[in-house]
Amino acid sequence: PQIFVTQQDGQTLTLDVAAGARLMEALRDGGTTVEGTCGGACSCGSCHVYVDAQWLSKLDAAADDESEMIEAIGDVVEVRPSSRLACQIHMSDALDGLSLTIAEAI
Ligand code: FES
Repeated sequence: PQIFVTQQDGQTLTLDVAAGARLMEALRDGGTTVEGTCGGACSCGSCHVYVDAQWLSKLDAAADDESEMIEAIGDVVEVRPSSRLACQIHMSDALDGLSLTIAEAI
C-alpha cells in the first residue's frame, strides 16, 4: 500500500508502507520531518499528522492515550479534528491511498 504525504513546506511525496507497519516508522524513514522521538510509545507528539477528511472514518478510533497526547500537544501546536499520531496507525490494504499532512514540528 501507498500513502501520500504533504509536508509543512508544501513538498509532497509518496511512500510505500508495508501492511502492518506503523505509519510513524514509514514517515520517519521516508525522509519526512517526522522524528518519532519516543519510538512510537505515544508520548512525544512528534508524529502528529492531519489525516485527510475522507480517510478519517476509515481509521480505528484513537485510543485514550492517543487522545490525551493530542490534547496535551494542543498547548503548543495547532490541533484539528483530523489530528492523529502516526505511531498509532497501522497500515493495511484498506488504507492504500491514504493522504495526510505532517503537522508543525513539536
Ligand atoms: Fe512519539 Fe508517536 S512517535 S507519539
